[in-house]
Amino acid sequence: SNTLSTDFANVLGESAVGKSSIVHRFVKDSFTDSRESTIGAAFLTQTIQIDTNTTVKFEIWDTAGQERYRSLASMYYRNAQAALVVFDITQELSLDKAKYWIKELQKQANSDIVIALVGNKLDLEEERKISKDEAQAFANELGLMYAEVSAKTGENVKDCFRDIALKLPLE
Ligand code: GTP
Ligand code: MG
Repeated sequence: SNTLSTDFANVLGESAVGKSSIVHRFVKDSFTDSRESTIGAAFLTQTIQIDTNTTVKFEIWDTAGQERYRSLASMYYRNAQAALVVFDITQELSLDKAKYWIKELQKQANSDIVIALVGNKLDLEEERKISKDEAQAFANELGLMYAEVSAKTGENVKDCFRDIALKLPLE
């Protein structure tokens, strides 16, 4: 028999860290250097086969990172089974914003939500400002998953969603 579970995933983080780019890489396997900043939120879906018997459909809310949309985010994470909290490994302050969103999720989201801290722009390794060890240690401390990805090259993007799917309870 085949099990299909449908899970809402919410993508949060500072503007320009690459939230929409990660989602587009995952859903459409494409990337553009000239992506426009998200207004409000965007909804996309993607289905992945976990094993011969298990399929997970992700219903993804890609939220806007600009400050003026901050109060909208809780509408989207309220029902989420998973959240990707994204920062840019080349922008120090983007990790502080990620920490803020993690706190919000821990206060306001489902208590069993699967949270992944995601460091994006791995292709810009030479401009890195946040070490893998620092981010990983922070994630471990809070019991979160940690992944580093590049929406640009696609490195690790599918695996990141797959790892999240593996942590989600089957329906
Ligand atoms: P908001 O919608 O404003 O919250 O931004 P966002 O987090 O959705 O960022 P977006 O995906 O729009 O990407 C912002 C910029 O970063 C764009 O110019 C992207 O092309 C670029 N970008 C995104 N991901 C990567 C990446 O993995 N590597 C590099 N080099 N650039 C990236
Ligand atoms: Mg966006």
